[in-house]
Amino acid sequence: MKILAIISSPRKKNTYQAIKTIESMHKKRYDCEYEYLFLHKVDLKGCIGCHLCLTEGEDSCPLKDDRDMIISKIEAADGVILASPNHTMNVNWRMKNFIDRFSYLMHRPRYFNQRFMILITSGSYQGIKGALKALAPMVSGGKIISKFAVTNSPGMNDKKRKKQAKKLQNEARKFIKKMKKPFIHNPPFGYLIWFSVFKAMTKETGKDSPADFEYYSTKEYFVKTDLSKGQRLILKISIAIFGFLIRIGMI
Ligand SMILES: Cc1cc2nc3c(=O)[nH]c(=O)nc-3n(C[C@H](O)[C@H](O)[C@H](O)COP(=O)(O)O)c2cc1C
Repeated sequence: MKILAIISSPRKKNTYQAIKTIESMHKKRYDCEYEYLFLHKVDLKGCIGCHLCLTEGEDSCPLKDDRDMIISKIEAADGVILASPNHTMNVNWRMKNFIDRFSYLMHRPRYFNQRFMILITSGSYQGIKGALKALAPMVSGGKIISKFAVTNSPGMNDKKRKKQAKKLQNEARKFIKKMKKPFIHNPPFGYLIWFSVFKAMTKETGKDSPADFEYYSTKEYFVKTDLSKGQRLILKISIAIFGFLIRIGMI
């Protein structure tokens, strides 16, 4: 089993230490391989907001760097840990740039074989919720099996520190247990709705966004999977409803 840890802190401190704890727990119990990808060590240029990845497709991005290498690493992994420090109630700038550079994945998701842990380390509880929420879109079709925040303020006493360490170990155990189970993507209701909205949009607005059109026009669902009769019905009805709402200008 391969785990890829994507870390946006340039320091080998709290965020790195949290991943190291998870890794050592994991290795004690299971045969697995960990790879660390530090965002400050890869060439990932700042998003210039040109929209080309969204409309024309990711290959039209004018920035040439390590983006596709990162995608390949994510796709080769069974589990991915996305870890960022909380900076001013959000992820830090490196993680935010990483999210923006891959924002086309919210239109055209692709990580259906991966399971994710999203992890924030923070000085206090302030802003943890927002930072965790910011990480969620990066999962892009995959499944979040663990969502966790570690707090480590300088003023913490030993008792609180031990409590935090225990909580992290428990979460690591839960993550490992879930990773051990075989995984097949079974479309949840929310994903059927997500697909329907984009499918209806590309049907109605045609080739305004050629990349989305190409992605959705031939697909029954995001990935080839055995859909039940009920799931097919949900797709059919919701595509019709969203199509209607788009035509009358409500969305
Ligand atoms: C610029 C900056 C902003 C921060 N903002 C917050 C914040 O809003 N809330 C909080 O609880 N901690 C905040 N912190 C503290 C860090 O989230 C915390 O120390 C984190 O664990 C650092 O991770 P690292 O050691 O991996 O870099 C901030 C730290 C920095 C440097």
